[in-house]
Amino acid sequence: MAEETLDLRGIPKPDAYLQLDEHIRAVLTDVRDDVAAMATMSALIHHAFGHLWTGFYRVVETDVLLRVGPYQGTLGCLEIRIGRGVCGTAAAERRTVVVPDVLAFPGHITCDARSRSEIVVPVTGRSGALIAVLDIDSDQVATFDDEDRRGLERIVHWFETESE
Ligand code: SME
Repeated sequence: MAEETLDLRGIPKPDAYLQLDEHIRAVLTDVRDDVAAMATMSALIHHAFGHLWTGFYRVVETDVLLRVGPYQGTLGCLEIRIGRGVCGTAAAERRTVVVPDVLAFPGHITCDARSRSEIVVPVTGRSGALIAVLDIDSDQVATFDDEDRRGLERIVHWFETESE
């Protein structure tokens, strides 16, 4: 099972995220490498739901700068200043930001013009410091809700307990 890429479209979100979290943890058994975990999570989340863009922006300068990490999708912006855009807002405020309509979010940074809605989840490492954000884009409006927030926050909790 751990070798497969699951397609979870059509399954109620709480169940889909439960399966996805178990699958990711199974694939990452004995792995203690943040880049490998980010790559694995990006691939499995992306293909499970058929998202437009799924990936990580890493904190490379505390409170100042995010730089792109492992992702799936079209070319992502390379760097985002903390405080700017959806990613930078989630990083600055250390909270998940759900954007039902990117055109209505002041300062939204467009990487792929097809993006219509977005969710960004802060990622905390073992030390409790912010190490990255997980960013997911959809080509439909209002794709993400509180179920996605809960499911994705549980997945990235891996970095607090299992990372390097
Ligand atoms: N839309 C994001 C930028 C990153 S791309 O979506 C991959 C933002 O406003 O922060």
